[in-house]
Amino acid sequence: MAGEEFVVTPWKVEGVVDYDRLIERFGTQPISDELMERLLRAAGERHHLLTRRIFFSHRDLDKVLDDWEAGRGFFLYTGRGPSGPMHIGHIIPFYFTKWLQDRFGVNVYIQLTDDEKFLEEERGLSLEETRRWAYENALDIAAVGFDPDKTFIFQDTEYIGNIYPLALKVARKINFSWVRAVFGFNHQTNIGMTFYPAIQIVPSLFEKRRCLIPAAIDQDPYWRIQRDIAESLGYYKTAAIHSKFLPPLTGPTGKMSASKPESAIYLSEDPKSVRKKIWQAYSGGQPTKELHRKLGGNPDVDVAYQWLYYFFEPDDRKVEQLREDYRAGKILSGEMKEILIEKVTKFLEEHQARREEAEEKLRLYKYEGKLAKEMWGKTYE
Ligand code: TYM
Repeated sequence: MAGEEFVVTPWKVEGVVDYDRLIERFGTQPISDELMERLLRAAGERHHLLTRRIFFSHRDLDKVLDDWEAGRGFFLYTGRGPSGPMHIGHIIPFYFTKWLQDRFGVNVYIQLTDDEKFLEEERGLSLEETRRWAYENALDIAAVGFDPDKTFIFQDTEYIGNIYPLALKVARKINFSWVRAVFGFNHQTNIGMTFYPAIQIVPSLFEKRRCLIPAAIDQDPYWRIQRDIAESLGYYKTAAIHSKFLPPLTGPTGKMSASKPESAIYLSEDPKSVRKKIWQAYSGGQPTKELHRKLGGNPDVDVAYQWLYYFFEPDDRKVEQLREDYRAGKILSGEMKEILIEKVTKFLEEHQARREEAEEKLRLYKYEGKLAKEMWGKTYE
């Protein structure tokens, strides 16, 4: 299926994504072995999202490491568009960002774009709804366990006064033809959407040092614009590290979507529905057990294996063994699913327990922690 047409924008993913071609299309860089090892050495620990190239592409990651080694430091920025409950794919960049924060001891800024999800008219959400989802999603993000002194979580409709002056300066550098070309806007697009990119760019300018943005590659179009204007405003071009998409349960095309609840597992789901959804997931197995034993399965399209590889089985040796045994027909699709069910259930159980305790933490991240207090005292000019 590779080579077929596919689409990746901040709002949609269609077809089977060819990530090598996407690197060319977007003009980003693959993470070379050398750069990956340099990052892991600086971090002092390995991480399977890097060694397995789930984070596979970047912009200026080498410069982030130069800055780090020279003592200039850097900061992290990521975000969430609160359009509904978060699924497992959405939380992966946050767990990775926490790992980077732990390893490098740097500040993290997290933007909740309740404005963006209201402006996307096709979603049909009211502003009250996106604000409420911002709060619900923030609890999931707080459950990830960022450093309360070095993390600021903010919601656009609340924090806008502090960033509006800088958003204006960013907005004046971007004309309509440019955002139309980058985002595919047209004459029916509401004018809120055409201004919105300025709002998503601003947090990359929160400090006068290099920003590193961990996110899936769908968000890269914003960073492309940022990098063309940042220096003219006296800031650093942002760096970025891009991940692939955790594939939908329904098969290798497109992405998990709220309009197809069977395609994703949400962070709030209970063990029963996790089991049901994973049992129905797309598999790389043969039609019968006998054929599977004889011919083996295809781990490259088996969603249960893919989820273990992407995130849920950090042990490289084990994941390699699963791959080989599945190929050889020693492991059946149902057995692969059982392994995943156990991992996902445990992950969600732990995440949900941390979420129960997250309200107080969220107050620190939003208002009362060291970084949060500093941020409310600032206006970004
Ligand atoms: P949103 O809410 O669509 O996505 C939140 C984060 O999840 C990533 N993502 C995925 N990662 C792995 N597998 C998937 N299947 C998957 N689907 C989504 C997204 O890339 C993102 O990192 N406009 C943004 C909100 C935002 C933002 C940011 C995101 C504002 N500032 C800075 C990243 C960095 C949005 O709607 O994200």
